[in-house]
Amino acid sequence: MVQYMKEMNKGNRLMNMLELIEKKRDGYALNTDEIAFFVRGVTEQSIPDYQISSFLMAVLFQGMNDQETADLTLEMSRSGKICDLSDIPGTKVDKHSTGGVGDKVTPILLPIVASFGVPCVKLSGRGLGFTGGTIDKFESIDGFCTSVDPSEFKSRIDKCGMLLGGQTAELAPADKFLYALRDVTGTVPSIPLIASSIMSKKIAGGADAIVLDITCGSGAFMKDVDSARELAERMIAIGKLAGRPVSCVMTSMEQPLGEMVGNILEMQEVCRTLRGQGKKDVLEVVLTMASEMLRFTNVGKNVSPDELKEKCMEKLTSGEAFEKFGELVLSQGGKLASDGTPVFVDAPFEVMTVFADKDGYVSACDALAVGEASCLLGAGRMKKEDAIDMGAGIRLHRKIGDPVKRGDELYTLYTGTKNPVGDDRIDEALLRMEEAYKISEEPSDAPSEILDVISP
Ligand code: URA
Repeated sequence: MVQYMKEMNKGNRLMNMLELIEKKRDGYALNTDEIAFFVRGVTEQSIPDYQISSFLMAVLFQGMNDQETADLTLEMSRSGKICDLSDIPGTKVDKHSTGGVGDKVTPILLPIVASFGVPCVKLSGRGLGFTGGTIDKFESIDGFCTSVDPSEFKSRIDKCGMLLGGQTAELAPADKFLYALRDVTGTVPSIPLIASSIMSKKIAGGADAIVLDITCGSGAFMKDVDSARELAERMIAIGKLAGRPVSCVMTSMEQPLGEMVGNILEMQEVCRTLRGQGKKDVLEVVLTMASEMLRFTNVGKNVSPDELKEKCMEKLTSGEAFEKFGELVLSQGGKLASDGTPVFVDAPFEVMTVFADKDGYVSACDALAVGEASCLLGAGRMKKEDAIDMGAGIRLHRKIGDPVKRGDELYTLYTGTKNPVGDDRIDEALLRMEEAYKISEEPSDAPSEILDVISP
């Protein structure tokens, strides 16, 4: 089937999808009308999946220039509703991460930034493949509701200064269709496709300014610093064209972030961090992201990034950010225990702990392998429709650079109590974890979390 555009394009010729695929396959740039034709066809579901998939593969191999990427982004952002947050006073800064393993930054960052009186509207996604998703993490809290209609944004912000919503079908629906197809056609790791996917949602979400955490390493889509930098530059360029300043923090994802991987386990670590007991790597990323967000607001005017980080750290040690987190949980229907920590839908059940078999130093704790092991235990989805076991995951007792003695705890595997996976999946998860960890005789340095910050 060849898909024709109903209206004429500028050259007064009917446009068809096959020609677009061939043009991209042969390395030519598409014009604004051609990209609009493609995005509309995706949104109206008038282009068959096999042609969309073929087009995505052509983009993966041939790339897109800045203009094409910006056209794709803006058209995708217009494929549904655009949130108007103008009646919420102040600069609305949104953040997004390109995804990773153990990435628990948002639930810590949001209460910190909101405790400065800065309104935070955060639209997040679910985990797919080996990467975790913020929405799933919040839904591990009993009663927490993540489906918030854009018409309620203002009243939610008035209530507690922040909200955490799932990407609705109404915002950038073209991305929803494209992302689902990319996920099953091997076309996720394309820089213009990732850039347009993220930026279209941020623009549709109504943010005035955007701070991006560009993860880089084995547990991220961008495997090396050069591609991460290219992605950052693409998104900054799109932001310029869309009139939204973008700041990019490039972070390492060679090993998982923090100590816990898995939904409830990570939210438990979130609570410890919010009470001032966070791991160094988590704090580094959270404080850098928070200070970048605040720099776009009045709070950050004439204050250096280091001073801003100190102020953010005070919000953690004083308990203010933890209190704010509790307000967020309650405002979205979640339950809190008497000590202010969330009530979870399940409890992690310890399956086994693995110990070091020799003395030395941890020289690898591969994020991809840990993410896959965690998925096998039930913490992530293998397929879009899979249910998640909220209690499942992994605790990493040792990370890169740590000295170990034979018999020291290395990692613990967990499942939930309700949907434990079979022994075969646990065996496979163990194999992945064995591949993930390396112990060497020579000391190795803990990797630096922040690789670069590119601010306007
Ligand atoms: N996150 C997104 O929202 N889209 C991508 O393509 C990759 C990460």
